[in-house]
Amino acid sequence: MGRLDNKIAIITGGASGLGLGTATRFCEEGATTVITDLNPDGADVAKGLGASFIEQDVRSEENWEAILEEVIGQHGRLDILVNNAGIFNSCPVDQTPLDEWQKVLDVNLTGVFLGCKHGVARMKRNPGGPAGSIINLSSVVGLRGQLGGAAYSASKGGVRLLTKTVALENAPIGIRCSSIHPGVIDTPIMDPIFAAADDPAAAKALVGQSLPIGYMGDPARDIGNMAVYLASDESVYVTGAEMVVDGGMTIGLPSGRNRPDS
Ligand SMILES: NC(=O)c1ccc[n+]([C@@H]2O[C@H](COP(=O)([O-])OP(=O)(O)OC[C@H]3O[C@@H](n4cnc5c(N)ncnc54)[C@H](O)[C@@H]3O)[C@@H](O)[C@H]2O)c1
Repeated sequence: MGRLDNKIAIITGGASGLGLGTATRFCEEGATTVITDLNPDGADVAKGLGASFIEQDVRSEENWEAILEEVIGQHGRLDILVNNAGIFNSCPVDQTPLDEWQKVLDVNLTGVFLGCKHGVARMKRNPGGPAGSIINLSSVVGLRGQLGGAAYSASKGGVRLLTKTVALENAPIGIRCSSIHPGVIDTPIMDPIFAAADDPAAAKALVGQSLPIGYMGDPARDIGNMAVYLASDESVYVTGAEMVVDGGMTIGLPSGRNRPDS
């Protein structure tokens, strides 16, 4: 018995990182999983997992409508939507070009809005009545500011409160919506930042060591497992929640090291 047996799930940005980790766990737990991504390489990724793939730009409303039409046409319902696709940028506010700000907001916030809008509309029409779980990827920097995070932090803070609004509007009809707030998880998203350092590997290691728990998170184990919980019926009483998965990043300054293998 899988924890997500008989559930139909869409994960945006599933070709890489947290979306891939989440898709891996969803497939292991029995969900019929559809990965979408701007990157067509997602097709091979999906094949390797036993999932299916649809190319998508989360910024396009027409794309959202077509994808949901295809998934409902094929599977009859939508139980889980993970709005995960996102981009990172780091730039001081007084140097952030307007088009860069707009790009980050378009993908990270408008993309999630469109997913919630059309996801809720579809989940309301599920056979047997409205039901479903929407999971939005925010960040620890959706909870607090970040140096260089004018656009990124604003987008993730927006996701946090969009999530609570969607949760409030739909709690009475059984459609849930919560956000996940990862700290630093080992994915390609920050590779360009590390690549700019003199010693990229050392810079990356240092980030992990600076966390209270002493190492970076793992996409499937840490974010995928949280998403499985929020997607499953184990969390029927959880909505509008902000699930922080950050190795202690937001609790204060690091103390000792706590690696299970050290
Ligand atoms: N990795 C972390 O430490 C971390 C921390 C906090 C929050 N997050 C958030 O988690 C989510 C996933 O990040 P990740 O680390 O896996 O990054 P990643 O770069 O590994 O993966 C992001 C995926 O989104 C896709 N994508 C980008 N723009 C898209 C668009 N317009 N339409 C469809 N797909 C698009 C990319 O092609 C890529 O496959 C993002 O929303 C990110 O902001 C990540």
